[in-house]
Amino acid sequence: MSQQALSRLWPVYGVDAPYAGVVGEGGLIVEIGSGMGEATAAMAAATPGVDLLAVEVHPAGVAALLRRLEEQDLTNVCVARDDAVVVLEALPPSSLAEVRLFFPDPWPKEKHTKRRLVRPDFTALVASRLAPGGRLHLATDVSAYAERALEVLADGWTASVVRRPAHRPVTRFEQQGLDAGRSVTDIFAYSVPG
Ligand SMILES: C[S@@+](CC[C@H](N)C(=O)[O-])C[C@H]1O[C@@H](n2cnc3c(N)ncnc32)[C@H](O)[C@@H]1O
Repeated sequence: MSQQALSRLWPVYGVDAPYAGVVGEGGLIVEIGSGMGEATAAMAAATPGVDLLAVEVHPAGVAALLRRLEEQDLTNVCVARDDAVVVLEALPPSSLAEVRLFFPDPWPKEKHTKRRLVRPDFTALVASRLAPGGRLHLATDVSAYAERALEVLADGWTASVVRRPAHRPVTRFEQQGLDAGRSVTDIFAYSVPG
């Protein structure tokens, strides 16, 4: 089923390297780790005039998103099946309106924390790809991740914890965290020119 969806829908919504051509004139939003695509599709449907690039490495997640895009007849989303760092590096500098990172893999064990996406090299890459005034939106239900992210973003960014914005829907993944008693932190961060 996943492979069928991929083969049929990839030519419609998929983008392959090099990715620079996906940036149009209207300010692209990149969502990193779109998972099963619930937030991606809902947010794209709510803003039909805004182009979105979903980046996901997990084939089943990519296939699920492709099916949602078809079901909801969305035309403002394209999908990259690649590592987020590879995709960001391929995009032109200062080209993105927003980078979304919703519930990145937590890597909770101390010895694995280096695998977390939010590290100084990653945030520097994001900063270089955001257009002036562009924003990084991070949401996580791992309090240690949020704390570390705020430490990383203290250098070169203006970052603040915000209430969950109404435009970010609660995904099944997030709901599981809420049901388990975890609280969610949303962070908006703006790169300081410099
Ligand atoms: C915990 S899930 C959250 C999914 C979704 N954002 C949500 O809120 O339901 C993290 C997702 O990020 C993806 N991911 C992890 N590292 C990635 C990377 N370097 N590039 C692209 N996707 C990545 C994983 O495959 C996974 O689907």
